[in-house]
Amino acid sequence: MKHLIDIESLSVDEINQIYNRALEFEKGHRKANHINSNIVNMFFENSTRTKMSFEMAENKINAKKYDFCADASSLNKGEDMFDTINNLSAIGMNVFVIRHNDDNLVKELSQKVYFQDAAFVNAGSGIYSHPTQALLDYYTIKRHFLDVKDKTITIVGDIAHSRVASSNIALLKKIGAKIRCLAPEYLTGDKVEGVEYYTDLNSAFENTDIIMALRIQKERIQEHINIDEYIKNYQITKENLPYAAFLMHPGPVNKDIEIRSDVLELQNAKTILNQAKNGVFIRMAVLDMVLNSMGL
Ligand code: CP
Repeated sequence: MKHLIDIESLSVDEINQIYNRALEFEKGHRKANHINSNIVNMFFENSTRTKMSFEMAENKINAKKYDFCADASSLNKGEDMFDTINNLSAIGMNVFVIRHNDDNLVKELSQKVYFQDAAFVNAGSGIYSHPTQALLDYYTIKRHFLDVKDKTITIVGDIAHSRVASSNIALLKKIGAKIRCLAPEYLTGDKVEGVEYYTDLNSAFENTDIIMALRIQKERIQEHINIDEYIKNYQITKENLPYAAFLMHPGPVNKDIEIRSDVLELQNAKTILNQAKNGVFIRMAVLDMVLNSMGL
C-alpha cells in the first residue's frame, strides 16, 4: 500500500490486513522501527482525535514526525500547494498526512508523477473521505462483535455533509453489513444503492445492533437548520436508544444536540472513547504498511 486515499481503493483483503496489523500492534505482538522515515502532518482543518492519534502512532512506530503549521507557512505569502509539497519533499519528507476541506486535493497530489517518491495519507478530505476513521470504526465493531457481516448499523444525523458517513458506508458495503441511514430529507444526501433510508427514528432503530451518531457539520452547511426540530425528531435519548445497542460517534460530540448528555454516561456509549483509542492502532498499521512499501 503506497497511499491511503479512500476506502473505495481498498479491497476487503486489504481492509482485513490493516485490521490484523492494528490488532498485532494493540496486543504488542508487532513492533515497528521506521527511524529513517520523515512524516509531515498537514492539517488545514481543525482536529483533535485524528491529529493527535496520527502523532501518537508516528511516535510508536519510531518515525520522525513534523507538524506543518499552515497559518505560519509560506502558503500565506502566495506559494501554492504543489510548490509547498515539492519543497517539503526536497527537504526530505517521505509521507504527507493531509487533512483539507478540498474533496480531491490528496487524491490529485498522489496521482502526480512528480511526487512519485512521496506517499500521501488522507486524514479527512472535504465531504469526500475519511478512510482512517472508517477503518478504526470497523476495527472497533469487529473487536467487539467479531463478525460485522451479520450486523445492522444505523448511521444517524448529517449524512449529507459527512465524510465519516460516506467512508463508513463504502467500507460496510464492501464487508456486506446491513446499513441504514436515518436523517431528515435535507440531511440525507445522495442515496447509495443497497443502503436503507429512514426519516423516522423508531423505525430505523428497530433491531439495530449499532448506532453511529454524527454531528451536524455546520461549517459545511449554507442553509438555516432548525436545531429544535432536529433535536425533537433525531436526538438520541435514554428513551429512544435500544437497550443493547452499541453507540458510536466519531467525535467531536455536540452534547445535547445529536446525543443527550446523560446518554454519554451509559455503558452503550463507552464505545466512543474506544474509537479514539483504536485510532492509534489503525494509524500505526496504515503508516507501517505505507512505509514498508517505500522500503523505509
Ligand atoms: N473524528 C475526527 O476526525 O475527529 P477530529 O476532527 O477531532 O480529528
